[in-house]
Amino acid sequence: MSAAPKAPLIGHQHLLSIRDLSPGDVTSLLDLADTYVDLNRQQDKKLSTLKGRTVINLFFEPSTRTQASFELAAKRLGADTVNMAVTTSSVTKGETLLDTVATLNAMNPDLLVVRHHASGAQRMLVSTANCSIINAGDGTNEHPTQALLDALTMRHKFGDLSGLTVAICGDILHGRVAKSNLYLLAMMGARVRLVAPPTLLPPDATRWGAEIFHDFEAGIKGADVVMMLRLQNERMEGTLLPSTREYFRYYGLTPERLALAKPGAVVMHPGPINRGVEIDSRVADDPKTSLILTQVEMGVAMRMAILDALSQHRRNDVGARA
Ligand code: NCD
Repeated sequence: MSAAPKAPLIGHQHLLSIRDLSPGDVTSLLDLADTYVDLNRQQDKKLSTLKGRTVINLFFEPSTRTQASFELAAKRLGADTVNMAVTTSSVTKGETLLDTVATLNAMNPDLLVVRHHASGAQRMLVSTANCSIINAGDGTNEHPTQALLDALTMRHKFGDLSGLTVAICGDILHGRVAKSNLYLLAMMGARVRLVAPPTLLPPDATRWGAEIFHDFEAGIKGADVVMMLRLQNERMEGTLLPSTREYFRYYGLTPERLALAKPGAVVMHPGPINRGVEIDSRVADDPKTSLILTQVEMGVAMRMAILDALSQHRRNDVGARA
């Protein structure tokens, strides 16, 4: 078993929004996650930092990367993990979110990782549960752990976030990844561009302080990072686009378009990718420029850092009350 790195005290019991974090919190989490990147590349990946603790994953929306990486992260830190399968739980018998969480909370978990289709759902749970709540995506609002793992990926590649130009392209209106990334990147001194058709941008997007582009090629020109997002069809009401073929024609990332970005620019995507809709396979699969699988690797390390740091807060909190 390897030696455990020391978790920073980020001063929070929960992780609900990037906007609750300070630049110092973000840097501490990135530094801790770096140590876990190294650990995860070793044969023996197991620590006992969270031995005796329980992590419950409660996902009301589909997930591959987020759920698997939280589960692996918890296991590598030595915690016990439970993945609640919502489709076979009492939710299907009409139990509310609050009752489900109150029930799970009565089993004394230490950390509850929640993904829900309602924006703000996790913040509502804070008064129902006394464990730490982690937002693994709330509706169209935020996905803070994705933004943190994206930041880790960019810092690995470029050394620093400050001064980078990041073009976030696609369905910004429904995309929680866009919002969390925008808040984090702006806080850490990066320049953010939002690139989307007018129907896929919130009408008040300008208040976020990012540069807005409707022309895809102008939006990615000279960018260090081109971050592509999926069309969130499951959240769209009515027809916001003529067709996916038309969308690819104007907003799809091809190698020819990527050549407009800064030399050495990288491509990111939180996944799942929709080939031929927002991204050409030649771009997605090019190991020279695509960081898509690196993001997945960084996801486990960042989630280890988050679980560790929040438990550290809890350890101190419980200690103070004892
Ligand atoms: C994202 C999500 O769920 O918001 N996926 C993820 O967590 N990797 C992005 C998406 O679903 O498009």
